[in-house]
Amino acid sequence: DGPDSLDMSTLTKQTGLTGLDYGFVNTASTKSAITFIDGEQGILRYRGYPIEQIAKNASFLETAWLLIYGELPTATELSEFDEKIRRHTLLHEDLKGFFSALPHDAHPMSVLASGVSALSTYYQDSIDPKNPEHVELATIRLLAKLPVMAAYAHKKSIGQAFLYPDNSLSFVDNFLKLNFGNLAEPYVVNPVLSKALERLLILHEDHEQNASTSTVRLVGSTEANLFASVSAGINALFGPLHGGANEAVLTMLAEIRDSGEGVARYVERVKNKEAGVKLMGFGHRVYKNYDPRAKLVKESAHEVLEALGVKDELLDIAMELEKIALEDEYFKSRRLYPNVDFYTGVIYKAMGFPTHMFTVLFAIGRLPGWIAHWREMNEDPQTKIGRPQQLYTGAPARDFPER
Ligand code: ACO
Repeated sequence: DGPDSLDMSTLTKQTGLTGLDYGFVNTASTKSAITFIDGEQGILRYRGYPIEQIAKNASFLETAWLLIYGELPTATELSEFDEKIRRHTLLHEDLKGFFSALPHDAHPMSVLASGVSALSTYYQDSIDPKNPEHVELATIRLLAKLPVMAAYAHKKSIGQAFLYPDNSLSFVDNFLKLNFGNLAEPYVVNPVLSKALERLLILHEDHEQNASTSTVRLVGSTEANLFASVSAGINALFGPLHGGANEAVLTMLAEIRDSGEGVARYVERVKNKEAGVKLMGFGHRVYKNYDPRAKLVKESAHEVLEALGVKDELLDIAMELEKIALEDEYFKSRRLYPNVDFYTGVIYKAMGFPTHMFTVLFAIGRLPGWIAHWREMNEDPQTKIGRPQQLYTGAPARDFPER
């Protein structure tokens, strides 16, 4: 729609031409009413509400409702939603066996994607994309069970017993207890952790047609069920150029600290484009100004570390890196700024999460966005199976040798 965009399918029919657009830099795959981003101005809005106002005032579940159903919930709608999610936190008992069977040193993202995929086998009463009751039940089940499975993935990786959810607790507090509680002693939720984690999860809830959301929509366009589509999204998120960047940032900061080479030297290596050396947590396909989420995360990093009394050398390195990069012509001319992942790892580490759990936390945050997009796609009568064209560059027709 609008003067700056063309309907490519009409254009292709009229001209017979196919556009080649590596990485979909200039091709819209859909219309969407969920999230607005202006990358030039650094603006992000969910359903019209600025991210800064949402992060300050809303809870994770209230934001999830907003994304999925389009408007803010009434107090009754929100409490019923919360209650339903609490009632669905328990996993089918056999899923414990499923998790136990996976190798203890598997990456928790792989464990999580496998677990979500397995939901289609355990909950066959919510896998019909054409049945609104199935879709609703799958929505609630995913929101309720993903944090529990994520905590199982964590517990498995550190060799501790799985805990059962405590449904007297809020969404975020329950998740903290599942991760950091143990069978031997009571767990008291630290309100600083709880508030900070809720804020980070909200900031991750949606980001329009990013790689994992586009994956969820593409898989869903084949009429695959919601569990299968979200499992594909988790796998797409895993890559270091997407959600995996939060883990990669911390690895990079630790390498800079341990090598003793110094921040300025590392930045030189990035600018020289040494193989495999990038400034992780910098740059974004859409934001060519500051990522508005990065601003909020940076504030949280300072608040959390101060409130927990943690002094982390990695935060100092991150700040020095940011300062040097923001003043450097290489980064300025390419309009590379910190993205949401630049400071999240430092906070997750201070909270006590191991590095390999960082992208799992992103997945929990992004889940409402994936669901909202899948449902929007599923309800849109214009949806077609996603099927990109290609420009063939292989061998011309030739005869197979006779034998
Ligand atoms: N460090 C150093 N140089 C960079 C970086 C970086 N992080 N990001 C981009 N560049 C350079 C590229 O080398 C390129 O330089 P050139 O013009 O001299 O060839 C230029 O900036 C443009 O970069 P592209 O790769 O074309 O940008 P694209 O939009 O395709 O990539 C991406 C965006 C993948 C996010 C990229 O910036 C990147 O790899 N960043 C690091 C990983 C990261 O933090 N990912 C998280 C993204 S946010 C999210 O998923 C939540």
